[in-house]
Amino acid sequence: MRILVTGGGGQIGTELLHVLASQGHELSVYDIARRPSAAPGSAAWHRGDVSNRSEVFDVVQELKPEVIYHLAALLSATGETLPHRAYQVNMDGTHNVLEAARTFGVRQVMFASTIAVFGPHLPDPVPNEVSLRPTTMYGITKVAGEMLGEYYDNTWGVDFRGVRFPGLISAGEPGGGTTDYALFMYVHGLRHGAYECFVGPDSTVPMMYMPDALRALVELSAAPKEKLKRHVYNIAAFSPTADEFADAVRARVPNVQLTYNADPMRQSILDSWPARVDDAAARHDWGWKAQYTLDSMSDDLIAKIKAMDE
Ligand code: SER
Repeated sequence: MRILVTGGGGQIGTELLHVLASQGHELSVYDIARRPSAAPGSAAWHRGDVSNRSEVFDVVQELKPEVIYHLAALLSATGETLPHRAYQVNMDGTHNVLEAARTFGVRQVMFASTIAVFGPHLPDPVPNEVSLRPTTMYGITKVAGEMLGEYYDNTWGVDFRGVRFPGLISAGEPGGGTTDYALFMYVHGLRHGAYECFVGPDSTVPMMYMPDALRALVELSAAPKEKLKRHVYNIAAFSPTADEFADAVRARVPNVQLTYNADPMRQSILDSWPARVDDAAARHDWGWKAQYTLDSMSDDLIAKIKAMDE
C-alpha cells in the first residue's frame, strides 16, 4: 500500500515507519524536520509544514496515498508555551490533511489522539464516551481533530479512525510532552546515572510502551469497518505512579539517582488528566489488548537502550 505519514520524524512516526516498512508498504513522510538517522532509508522524505494548505495539497496530490497516518502535532507542554503555533499545527494541520484526503480520494486517515482530550473530575477509569472538557490548547485541538475527522467520515466518506494514546514510553527522543518524564527516568537514568523528574512522585496517568502503541494504530487501521462502532478509541496499558516507574528503574540500574522537582506548569497539565482510562470499547470492537506490563516493558526498554549505546 502507498502510505503517507505526517510527522514521520517524531517519536511515534520514526518507529511506525519501521513497522510499516517491514510489512512491505511504500512509504512517504511529510515532516517539518529533516530525516532523523533512526528513520528507515526506504521512506521518501518530503519537508513541509502541515499548517500550510497548499503544501499539504501538493504533496497529497503528487503521492496519491491510500492511507495517511496523521501524526504531526505540537504536544502538551510545547503547546502551552506556544499556544498559537499549537493551534496552527494541530487544528489547521488536521483540517488540511482531511481536506486533502477528501479532495484527492485518500481512502483512510489514521489520527493520533490522546488522553489529553480529557479534563478533570471524570469517572475513574474514564469511559470511551464522556464529556470532553480539556484545559490545555493541545487537548482542545485534539478534541476538535476527533470531531472534524468524524465529520469528514460521516459527510464525505473519508474513513477516519483514531486512538487516544496514553503517555508513550520509548528509547527514542520525545518532543515536548508532559508524560516524557517516564521515559527520561529510563534513558537518562541509564545514560547519566541520574534524573530529576519534573512532576511529583505520586503523579499518575495512563502510560504505554511504544510497541503496543504502534500495534494499536496498525490493527485499528486494518479492522473491518463494520465492526467499528465509533471513530476514536481509548487504549490502555498501565498507570504507575512516577515513583513506581522510579522503583522499576532502581531495580534494574544500580545506584541510579532519581529525584523530584515538580515544575508547576507541567504538574498542572498532568493533574488535569485522568489516572486510568477504560479501553473496553477497543477490546470489544477490534480485539485490542496491550501486551506489555510495567515489568516486561522495563526489561525490554533497558535492553534496547543498552543495545543502542553499544
Ligand atoms: N504524551 C502526550 C503529552 O504529554 C500526551 O498525549 O503531551
